[in-house]
Order: sequence, then C-alpha cells, then structure tokens
Amino acid sequence: MALLEVRNLEVRFTAQGGDVTAVRGVDFDLDRGETLAIVGESGSGKSQTVFALLGLLARNGIASGSVRFEGREILNAPAKVLNPIRSNRIGIVFQDPMTSLNPYMRVSEQLEEVLVFHKGMSKREARAESLRMLDAVQIPDARNRITLYPHEFSGGMRQRVMIAMALLCRPDILIGDEPTTALDVTVQAQIMRLLAELQRDFGMALILITHDLGVVAGAAERVMVLYGGQVMEQGPAGDIFATPSHPYTRGLLRSIPRLDRQEERLPSIAGNPPNMAKTIKGCPFQPRCDYALDRCRDHLAPLVSFAPGRARACNKSVEELA
Ligand SMILES: Nc1ncnc2c1ncn2[C@@H]1O[C@H](COP(=O)(O)OP(=O)(O)OP(=O)(O)O)[C@@H](O)[C@H]1O
Ligand SMILES: [Mg+2]
Repeated sequence: MALLEVRNLEVRFTAQGGDVTAVRGVDFDLDRGETLAIVGESGSGKSQTVFALLGLLARNGIASGSVRFEGREILNAPAKVLNPIRSNRIGIVFQDPMTSLNPYMRVSEQLEEVLVFHKGMSKREARAESLRMLDAVQIPDARNRITLYPHEFSGGMRQRVMIAMALLCRPDILIGDEPTTALDVTVQAQIMRLLAELQRDFGMALILITHDLGVVAGAAERVMVLYGGQVMEQGPAGDIFATPSHPYTRGLLRSIPRLDRQEERLPSIAGNPPNMAKTIKGCPFQPRCDYALDRCRDHLAPLVSFAPGRARACNKSVEELA
C-alpha cells in the first residue's frame, strides 16, 4: 500500500460565468520517502490537486474521488480527522511565505505555537526544537534571529523559515507548492538542494510543484505532467528527460534554458492553455499540438502504461512521435 493514494480526483468550482473544473480525474501514488514532481503550466490544476487532498479548497470548490493516506480515506473528511494530519503528518510550503506567516508575530512565537499545539511541548522544549529546525534549514545565527519578525528576513530566508515551520512536526509528506518561484535563480537552486537534503535526512516523501521542468532535474525521482487538469504523462524523472513520450512534455522540455547552448530566445509552446470553465471533449492539448490527429479533437487517450513505471495519455504511439 502506498503512503498516499489519489484516485480519480476531480475539483470543481462554482463560479458566475459557469462552473470551472480545475482537476479532471487525477490518479497517483506516493510511497514513503519518494519525491514526486507535479509539473505543468499556470492554471493546469497543480495547486488545486494538493489543496483538495488537504481540505484547503476555496469555499466555492468541491472535490470528488478518493484520497487515502495510510489506507484511510481523507478526502472531504471532517476537521476532526484532517486537523491532526495537516502539518503533523503532511506539511505544506506555499508559494508566498507571507500568506502563511503572520507579519505581526515574531518567528519564534509562530514556530513554538505549532509545537505546543500539535506536540504538547513546553515553551522551552518548543524553543529548542524550533532552533534545531532553523539550523536544519541553514539559517545563520538562528539563536539571535529567531525573535525577529518575518519582514526582517530576506525573501530566501523567509522561505527557509516556512520550510522549517512545515518540518516542525516531522511530517511523513512535505508538499512544496512552487516553493522557489518568488526567489532569484541562485537562491532557487540553494532551496531546491536544501529540500532534497532534508527529504533524505528526515526520510520524508516530497511533492514538489513547479511550472518549470528545469527545477525538477536532479530533485525528483518521479514526474507527473499535468495539463488542463489531466495527467498527460507520468514516470521516472530520468526517463521523462531522456525520452519524453508526450508532445506537451516535449514542449515543456524545449522551453528549459540549457547551459550548453546559447539561445537567442527559448521556444515556448505556441497558443494558450484551455479555458477550464468549458467542457473539454478531446485532448486538452490538441489545439496546440504539432502531432494532433483528427481523432484527438473528440477523443482523449486514457493514461496507459507503455514501459515499466511509465504512462502516457496520447493517441499517437511513442514510435510515431520519434
Ligand atoms: N476559487 C476558485 N474559483 C474558480 N476557479 C478557480 C478557483 N481557484 C482556482 N481556480 C481555477 O482552477 C484552475 C487551476 O488552478 P490551480 O491553482 O490549480 O493552477 P496551478 O496549476 O497551480 O497554476 P499556477 O502555476 O499559476 O499556480 C485555474 O483555471 C484557476 O483559475
Ligand atoms: Mg499553483
């Protein structure tokens, strides 16, 4: 049994201009200690997938399908079931640290509060453990800086504080929702390395969400590529980089800057992502796909395994794409 089993997950929002279906039947497993990257352009449903499983959807959102954590159904579970799981067993780092740090509270108070509440620690124990975590995320001089307010940290250091906070209860799963996009490139690389180290040291599973496949190289074992709320391709990261099996993945890979090539402009995928308020009949990527067949307009190929650990949803065969 996988640590986390997500089956046929669908997320729908009621909205004025018509309902928006943001996630359309997503399936995946996450094993203990494994690193999964969820990759896709803006609006592909990455955040709503993980928000749904933690019961964090906006009020106009409804999720259906199944999410099992250690075999127990948690999708749409009552707060009584979800609260002990959130932050205690599954930690999340959001894209913008200021959305989850309280600007009016010292970092020390915010960290200690979590440990007092979830772990029943005394103030003293909580301070010692908080310092240990700030050290783990490599905040220099943590002993003196722990009493600062969030705005007194730089962007990169604030993101480290957020990671420390998500790690406090030593969760089984850490979710990073684009944890580095607000940061400059060198700091991004440092944070990604840090996450990989922490994942190893703490033996956690890691779900890394990003729109940038370049960030994933070396950081994730498995990759799930989302488009229009659906899984286009899934498999070991190395295989996906070496032999991408879906036209969308190929497009994403072409738009990664490479150190060994000087390019004037990187080719981005022409066209725009689908309108999620519409019903999508065929393959959501068909209007932008260089390989599209007539049947792609009204028939989305199911996600089918074609090699060990690999699956793809495409009407063209792998050989035809080569
Ligand atoms: N509360 C809401 N009401 C209506 N639609 C919503 C709501 N929240 C999200 N959506 C829509 O759901 C779709 C998927 O959003 P999601 O946040 O999962 O995208 P994402 O892949 O995380 O993108 P990004 O890279 O920009 O963060 C988008 O079309 C978005 O506009
Ligand atoms: Mg998002």
